[in-house]
Amino acid sequence: MTWAELRDAAVDRLRAGGFEQPGVEVRWMLEEVSGLDAAEQVTEASAPATVRAANALSELLDRRLAGEPLQYVLGSWSFCGIDLLVDRRVLIPRPETEVVAQIAIAEAARLGERVGSTDAWAGAITEYAVADLGTGSGALALALAFALPEAEVWATDVDPDALAIARANVAGSGTPSARVRLAEGSWFAALPDGLRGRLRVVVANPPYLAADELSTLPPEVADWEPVGALVSGRTGLEAFEAILAAASEWLDPTGTIVLELAPHQAEPVAEIARANGFCSVEVHQDLAGRDRVLVARRVESDG
Ligand SMILES: C[S@@+](CC[C@H](N)C(=O)[O-])C[C@H]1O[C@@H](n2cnc3c(N)ncnc32)[C@H](O)[C@@H]1O
Repeated sequence: MTWAELRDAAVDRLRAGGFEQPGVEVRWMLEEVSGLDAAEQVTEASAPATVRAANALSELLDRRLAGEPLQYVLGSWSFCGIDLLVDRRVLIPRPETEVVAQIAIAEAARLGERVGSTDAWAGAITEYAVADLGTGSGALALALAFALPEAEVWATDVDPDALAIARANVAGSGTPSARVRLAEGSWFAALPDGLRGRLRVVVANPPYLAADELSTLPPEVADWEPVGALVSGRTGLEAFEAILAAASEWLDPTGTIVLELAPHQAEPVAEIARANGFCSVEVHQDLAGRDRVLVARRVESDG
């Protein structure tokens, strides 16, 4: 069987299973099992496929046809250009969270910190600290570490299984990851006391669904992604309340907190931020134009 025949049979299987983009999905799976990128899949189309790749592809197709999200089937996904391992222990990083990362990086720049690539010889020298609370795969923490060359980046999670994935991603991400520190515990309580009052920027994409919203999610999310990454509690606002109640104590006097939220939560979460002493509170939109990111500053921004 040639690579083209293997691909066509796989596309037919996914199409028969009702998948909307079988060609794209098979291209990714084929790359995963064969190492052939999209262009090579074309140039090698009439070459014989390996038995090993055919067997591996068949296993991936079985998993996908059983409803497992493509990202878990592939075992990795890209976030802000960084390749991350992902499996059922962590939330799949979303495009809207890339917007959160960009806003947090812009906020560090506004506070006077340098944005740019890490000098390969700079080692792990850091000048200030930032934190990603509820890091999951480590997505936001690594995006910050790559973009902010002088930042010490704290990545926390309450779930040790999620932290195991974050640890693997940090270990596999090269020089910037030398500045990432992992810590287990609930929100700020995971951090060492010495960071109190010192964090320049805090970023979090906490669970923000109300418990009764879980049943409204597509099965591909509800049946596969960790409930602790999705559901906050009865109202969906619990994580925001806990984080914002402690944030002023941990941020430096001019620091900023950047939070991902669901569009309908923008007003209540802004209210919680103001009630906790944040005087400048803004809501930014995601790529689809929906309210998605809260930026709360301890002091008024002058521009
Ligand atoms: C929506 S996921 C976000 C994961 C990752 N930051 C991202 O954006 O892809 C929320 C994460 O918060 C973690 N989490 C839930 N409750 C927590 C708590 N009390 N303290 C710290 N982390 C918590 C979950 O384990 C999960 O990894």
